[in-house]
Amino acid sequence: MNNLQEKDQHWVHPVTALLDHQAKGVCAWKSADRIHLVDVNGRRVQDAFSGLWCVNAGYGQPTLVEAARKQLETLPYATGYFGFGSEPAIELASRLAKLAPPGLNHVIFGQGGSDAVDTAIRTVSYYFNAIGRPEKKHFIAVQRGYHGSSAVGSGLTALGVFHRYFDVPTSTQHHIEAPYPYRHGAGPDEASVLQATVAALESKVLEIGAQNVAAFICEPIIGSGGVIVPPAGYLKAMRETCDKLGILLIVDEVITGFGRTGPMFACEHEGVSPDLMILAKGLTSGYAPMSATIISQNIYAAIAEAGAGGIPFGHGQTYAGHPVSAAIANATLDLYETSLLKNGIEVGEYFQTRLRSLERLDLVGQVRGQGMLAGVELVTDKQTKAKPDPSLKLGQKILAHAFAEGLVFRAFADDILGFAPSLNYTHADVDNLIDILTLSIDKVTGSRGG
Ligand SMILES: Cc1ncc(COP(=O)(O)O)c(C=O)c1O
Repeated sequence: MNNLQEKDQHWVHPVTALLDHQAKGVCAWKSADRIHLVDVNGRRVQDAFSGLWCVNAGYGQPTLVEAARKQLETLPYATGYFGFGSEPAIELASRLAKLAPPGLNHVIFGQGGSDAVDTAIRTVSYYFNAIGRPEKKHFIAVQRGYHGSSAVGSGLTALGVFHRYFDVPTSTQHHIEAPYPYRHGAGPDEASVLQATVAALESKVLEIGAQNVAAFICEPIIGSGGVIVPPAGYLKAMRETCDKLGILLIVDEVITGFGRTGPMFACEHEGVSPDLMILAKGLTSGYAPMSATIISQNIYAAIAEAGAGGIPFGHGQTYAGHPVSAAIANATLDLYETSLLKNGIEVGEYFQTRLRSLERLDLVGQVRGQGMLAGVELVTDKQTKAKPDPSLKLGQKILAHAFAEGLVFRAFADDILGFAPSLNYTHADVDNLIDILTLSIDKVTGSRGG
């Protein structure tokens, strides 16, 4: 075992089967440029997952590096507490307020998606207590949804390993069936799935009692649950249903924000303004940790008013609004606004078209996605949509072949492959991705004998 492998045994890696990892060892990255990662042994692979769907601008963007360097030199840290702040964080708050859907205009900064979800939940609870509706304590989320792994947010997440042994979901956390046209009982017809999803939210709220329900939370496209694209009109229908039922809508755009699906935010596809919107990842293109929970004027006014008489809103972290992260975020927004969103939209269309052609392959049941975000669901029978035997680990095998050929993406546990290329991809980069992926699926199909 070399030195690095030995040292790595002390790192409890996130969302990792620890015994398997001990046996297999770490694959440690050393450097990166544009869309490529290079490991400590000098092996170079094309990144088709933007790190963890976060490096939207690609690696080595000089303006991001320069923004960080300059900020580190001039002011490496400044608190946002007690009336203090820093120029980059103030600038960023006002830019996000302008960019966000109408009505969302106050920003609570954090470090990452999980704490931004936690912030959203705490803010909603505070808000309802403040306006004299303390019984509104229940939250409803979607099966297969992912909302991070904080003590509370993990219960809104609906993926088994985030619940197992962690004592969540709590008694105030509920889930409705995922709007998953390919596998929904009412599918594949999108209008029927949408109708069923609206009905599921209504009946869950009825069951709990609308007076007890605080909010519904969802992702515009379910990411970690398998890149599941809901029917068109989903967010709009959820907005209308929440309004009708008198509950808040929280949209988690941690993956879908910042051009991942085309526009700056996925909410824009349907002209939806949630009550709270959660952002992270692409905010800094992953160059430094940062998140933003953007809240409506209405919620802001209520929580501000609740502190009349000098009582602070008792929520925050040392690094909230960190100036270096904020400087990087401002430089990242500049990139989105000048060229990156445009390129992501153009290359995203090409990527979706080319990827969809894989549906001709025997093992591919469905290709789905939007912009630079996609999922490929593997099946062993296209008619019955039968999933591969999990013990065969077909998704993992395809990834292993691709990795050997110089491409990395994500293989979810239930044989769905996930793709989130950075927005600086070219057509040639997409071609290389598709070539290696096709070859890798063919290899696995061949080794199964058909
Ligand atoms: C939709 C969504 N929400 C929240 C999170 C949690 O973000 P983080 O890993 O930065 O805590 C993620 C992470 O992938 C996510 O995809």
